[in-house]
Amino acid sequence: MSIEKRVQALNEELQAALAAALTVDQIEVIRVAFIGKKGSITQLMQEMKTLPVEQKRSAGPLLNELKRGAEQKIKDAKAQLVMERAAQEEAKKQHFDVTAYLPQQPQGHLHPFTPFIEEIENIFLSMGFDIFDGPEIENDHYNFGALNIPQDHPARDMYDTFWLDVPNMLLRTHTSPVQIHAMETNALPLAGITIGRVYRHEAVDASHDYMFMQCEGVMIGENIRLSHLLGTAQHFLKTLFKTDSLDIRIRPGFFPFVEPGVEIDMRCQFCSDGCSVCKKSTWLEVFPGGMIHPNVLKAANIDPEKQSGFAFGFGLTRLAMLRYGINDIRHFYSGKNSFLHQF
Ligand code: PHE
Repeated sequence: MSIEKRVQALNEELQAALAAALTVDQIEVIRVAFIGKKGSITQLMQEMKTLPVEQKRSAGPLLNELKRGAEQKIKDAKAQLVMERAAQEEAKKQHFDVTAYLPQQPQGHLHPFTPFIEEIENIFLSMGFDIFDGPEIENDHYNFGALNIPQDHPARDMYDTFWLDVPNMLLRTHTSPVQIHAMETNALPLAGITIGRVYRHEAVDASHDYMFMQCEGVMIGENIRLSHLLGTAQHFLKTLFKTDSLDIRIRPGFFPFVEPGVEIDMRCQFCSDGCSVCKKSTWLEVFPGGMIHPNVLKAANIDPEKQSGFAFGFGLTRLAMLRYGINDIRHFYSGKNSFLHQF
């Protein structure tokens, strides 16, 4: 093969190799292969030294040109590649989605009680009840005396009371004191509920805590009757448990501040023929209440001959346990994420 042909072939070979190179490292390999110490162009130049003089004269410039051209092409190819890479990096930066790799952040949310309380408040608001508020620290009068539980009345034993160091002061054992506050500060007729914490000095187990939530309701006006209490309980429980077919039943119950006093039960929502939740009875005791005792009305300067009213006070914590199928009251304030994240 003539020198000219070999020069042309090497040139084409080099160009094809450079065109296929994707990295600077690959170009370096090509450089060594062509113009390195043992590169093919270098070898061809070495061969030239052995040629006769007249051939050397014509081949010399050709080979020099080949070598210089190769050096230039390799340099250009390198520069081109570096530029392309830089442009690609720049484009990546411009389209970089700063949110794409955001690690999952743990999110806070409401304690299960909060939406449950709102739901209950909304049901009563829709029936025309107001929302009342009252203190958790009470005195003997509001928690007991005004509720027809005088000193030494055996009914005080129903409530294991946390007494404070201040004489006559205590943590309320039920939300019923808010009945008295409501009568003192509202004109008749009145209807309202209050939801809040109550405290009892009790041994803690799966269904008892020393602090839990109650919802107290009260309605006072002319001709308020037991049927109003029943209707209120029925509508409330049906709405809360989202069912049209909810039986309730009424039994006598004793509380000094109501006469008659009642226990309203609802049909167990978890079974039809008895289960552990309803203790095989198919009934759940959920809604204690009654007609407000005349002595309680009198203590608040309301004439029991002209006005009457009903009151109820159910355990909101227990209702939340029934509604969400929670089997241990201690979960609520355990602070355990595995419990809280379910809501
Ligand atoms: N306060 C009572 C309790 O804590 C419940 C109740 C409220 C009963 C209102 C009747 C009327 O047990």
